[in-house]
Amino acid sequence: MQHDTAAQRHADLAQQIRAHDHAYYVEARPTIPDIVYDRLYRELVDLETQHPELRTPDSPTRRVGGAPLEGFAKVAHRVPMLSLENTYSPAEVRDFIARAESELQKHSPLPNGSTPTWTVEPKIDGVAISLRFEAGVFVQGVTRGDGTTGDDVTDNLRTVRNLPLRLAPAPGVPMPAILEVRGEVFMPVEAFQKLNAQRTAAGDESFANPRNATAGSLKQLDPKLVATRPLRVLVYGLGETIAHPLPTTQTATLSWLQSLGLPVPPWIQSAQSVEGVVALIQSLDQARRHFEFETDGAVVKLDDLALRRHLRDTERFPRWAMAYKYAPEQAETQLHSISVQVGRTGALTPVAELTPVFVSGSTVARATLHNETELRRKDIRPGDHVFIEKAGEVIPAVVRILPEKRSRPGPAFSLPTECPECRTPALREKTSSGDSAAWCCPNPRCPARVRARIEHWCARGALDIEGGGEVMAAALVAAGLVQDVSDLYRLTPAPIAALERQGTKSAANFIAGIEASKSREFWRLLFGLGIPHVGARIAKTLARAFPDIDALAASAPALALESGPSIEDIGPSIGKSLTEWFGDPDNQALIHRLREAGLRLVSDTHQPAATPAVGLFSGKTFVLTGTLPSLSRDAATARIEALGGMVSSSVSRKTHFVLAGSDAGSKLEKARTLGIPILSEPEFLTMAAAAAPSPNPPVQPDLFALS
Ligand code: IVH
Repeated sequence: MQHDTAAQRHADLAQQIRAHDHAYYVEARPTIPDIVYDRLYRELVDLETQHPELRTPDSPTRRVGGAPLEGFAKVAHRVPMLSLENTYSPAEVRDFIARAESELQKHSPLPNGSTPTWTVEPKIDGVAISLRFEAGVFVQGVTRGDGTTGDDVTDNLRTVRNLPLRLAPAPGVPMPAILEVRGEVFMPVEAFQKLNAQRTAAGDESFANPRNATAGSLKQLDPKLVATRPLRVLVYGLGETIAHPLPTTQTATLSWLQSLGLPVPPWIQSAQSVEGVVALIQSLDQARRHFEFETDGAVVKLDDLALRRHLRDTERFPRWAMAYKYAPEQAETQLHSISVQVGRTGALTPVAELTPVFVSGSTVARATLHNETELRRKDIRPGDHVFIEKAGEVIPAVVRILPEKRSRPGPAFSLPTECPECRTPALREKTSSGDSAAWCCPNPRCPARVRARIEHWCARGALDIEGGGEVMAAALVAAGLVQDVSDLYRLTPAPIAALERQGTKSAANFIAGIEASKSREFWRLLFGLGIPHVGARIAKTLARAFPDIDALAASAPALALESGPSIEDIGPSIGKSLTEWFGDPDNQALIHRLREAGLRLVSDTHQPAATPAVGLFSGKTFVLTGTLPSLSRDAATARIEALGGMVSSSVSRKTHFVLAGSDAGSKLEKARTLGIPILSEPEFLTMAAAAAPSPNPPVQPDLFALS
């Protein structure tokens, strides 16, 4: 076929297929029999084989997935992807609306006594996503990640059947120049159950719930595999968008997105009073039972987009929206025994071993019993019939027993006096609230604790090492390959591949993940260390307040004082915890090993205090040139400023030091000519580290002679 004719036929076929896809996947209204569709599709594939230039990024053939990727590129969100504040209480929804309305009255009083409109939509229980269309063509899809930066999963998203690869505006609707939409990728419940059944039959592990199946699928590096997973998307909001005219309300946004051919949530209603909103939340609770996706709540949003701007976002949440979560489902089952789990910090937690039961979309076979006091209070014994409950993210819990079903009470349970794993005598720990409920295994080398630490280090919220879950952590510890997290950085693929249930490919992926973790943000590392009281949020605050780990360690004792430096959210109890942690020689040695393994122990988000710091570099001027092996320019500048120094852009007689990396040019030349001391990054780091009384590395006196 001639190119022109082929191009014409290609356009025609693609157009027909898109229309059929839209009818089938978006409107659930199939227009032609499968066999006719398959014939059109086949013809399109053949045409593209003969004329590869016709295989454009928005061609329907892209849906089957292209070549596997090495990894996902990180993409910064142009508009941050915030999360939503949650509540289970209608009273808190009322407070939220009252607060927002009173705030609005201050800034932009509504015409005499009128109240703003609020919308209520389903909270889709999937994975948040940002989708970018340029001139109507789907060009990029990015996960939420930490809200600021996410993973580029474009190729995987092309396989999502109800996502148009090209927008199809309704007649009279102009094509937006740039459209970034926010929404949720999910797996329909029915498709999820089918997939799990297939997996079980094939001997593969089943997914815990549709959300995990979705997240697990999106993380796959092979889009062809993703194409076999029945993922869908729904969009409910805008990111960066350049279009005329832009919608001015939430309701209009959804209609507009729908008119562009995008799938939107099946239910949205609005109300102008608090009680109206509460009533809508209740009616959505009924309606949601018929949706094809799982919902865990209702999202209440201020309808008017311009009014939203008067309500300033917090760091994590907008103040114009809130999520009301429906009470978790409960299920009845039988508890056959009580086992004891040893956590990362050594805490011994009683765990209920249950007859598996399906609740809130997944099968539950274990549930936490929290602690001995709780267990006694509820009088839970082996053999009891119990109600269990799963609340969103939270681990399933035993709510209460059904005393009427107890025939013969099992023995009352007591926690063992020694660690069930390593047999070290258990200690009773005081909790921060002063009550003494938690028994602990005090042995930091306890294999159960080591496993939990590795798992925590690899977790998505920490160093995000793919494949470092419970099974891998257990196998590594059992095989004696890993005793602490620094050992991960000495692993090679062969012994991992030799572990039971690990193939060569997953071993290679795991090693690649470990390598990639070396350049993760500093706060992730701080969180991953598992310092008591240092959760992800506190880790982020610390990473902003301190230039690197040595500065943090050195300041810990001061933070423990009531009169210590004031850093938002960092009180003396965190200071004490940090002091204790950094004071432990084992932890100091761990930091040393991590540093040697090439991890970044330097903050990338440090914001130096406004007043110049007084320190080792007070009054000294530095010039940076070339590319440093590990520090970014910002990180190096932050270190210098934190120790009281200044960074200047040009070398002169007044320059005290030049910090030079590879490919340094004229600045280095000039420094040599003027006889200004030139530092390499390791030399610089040694100097900076010496400013903080850190256990390592040794101070080199000759460098100090220079200052
Ligand atoms: S609006 C600024 N609407 O819930 C945040 N979110 O818990 C705007 N979600 O990260 C979010 N359904 O991934 C919004 N109809 C809906 C939603 C929804 C599900 C997710 C979203 C968000 C999370 C917050």
